[in-house]
Amino acid sequence: MTEWPSAGCIEFKSVSAYYKSQPSMPALRDLSVSIKAGEKVCIVGRTGSGKSTMLGVLLRFVDMNGCVTIDGIDIESVGLRTLRKSMEVIPQDVYLFSKSIRSTLDASGCFCDDELWAALDAVGMKPYVSNMSQKLDTLIENGGSNMSLGQRQLLFFARILLSKTKIILMDEATSSVDPETESCLRRVIQETCSKTTLLAVLHRLQNCKSLSCAHEQELKAVALTSTDFCTGIQTLVPTMDNK
Ligand SMILES: Nc1ncnc2c1ncn2[C@@H]1O[C@H](COP(=O)(O)OP(=O)(O)OP(=O)(O)O)[C@@H](O)[C@H]1O
Ligand SMILES: [Mg+2]
Repeated sequence: MTEWPSAGCIEFKSVSAYYKSQPSMPALRDLSVSIKAGEKVCIVGRTGSGKSTMLGVLLRFVDMNGCVTIDGIDIESVGLRTLRKSMEVIPQDVYLFSKSIRSTLDASGCFCDDELWAALDAVGMKPYVSNMSQKLDTLIENGGSNMSLGQRQLLFFARILLSKTKIILMDEATSSVDPETESCLRRVIQETCSKTTLLAVLHRLQNCKSLSCAHEQELKAVALTSTDFCTGIQTLVPTMDNK
């Protein structure tokens, strides 16, 4: 199990998801999607259509019916800690725990300073951290209140660059950075995550295309139907046809 997941294939089989506060109203209905290892998948759909819920199901934050497998293993059969450690997540609302920048980037303390600075440099955060008096040992306060939301998102990206994860989940992860930083991050993803499976919730479809120019043929979009008008139809379509 230590090698799991070794590839990063994800399969949703007839998945419906429910929040405890609204057990009779599915937040996601009968979703079946097969995602190959290394594929870059954009999750699109209207507000409330279940995009964040789809990621929540993968991390077992949301109750579900149906089955989700990663590399053929049912995620219900895996310990929660193992499951959540198997993916890197950049959430919609980035909350950082009160610890140093160093421990945020490298929880298990296995990277040297040069590697940490290189990751910060790749996401454009090196000047900001260099200017702090404690540098890498600067304490992040109160969930990250001493940093902007965009800077918190960039720190998450730096952490992902250092990890050897096979699966990345992003929930509008570039929503709070400027366009120049956003395109820099896409380039970083293309260059360093070519073999990583990426599920990205995006509001703008044109961002799907630019997420991975090098892998355009692999790029897909899962279009979720709004649960308000839910017909249970969710499709996996090539991004280019999904105007
Ligand atoms: N914690 C929760 N408790 C109860 N219902 C929830 C909860 N979170 C989401 N929902 C409901 O589940 C449905 C899907 O919500 P979800 O957050 O997945 O949508 P989304 O597509 O990510 O929307 P957005 O684009 O606004 O982020 C909505 O009807 C929403 O009201
Ligand atoms: Mg959402």
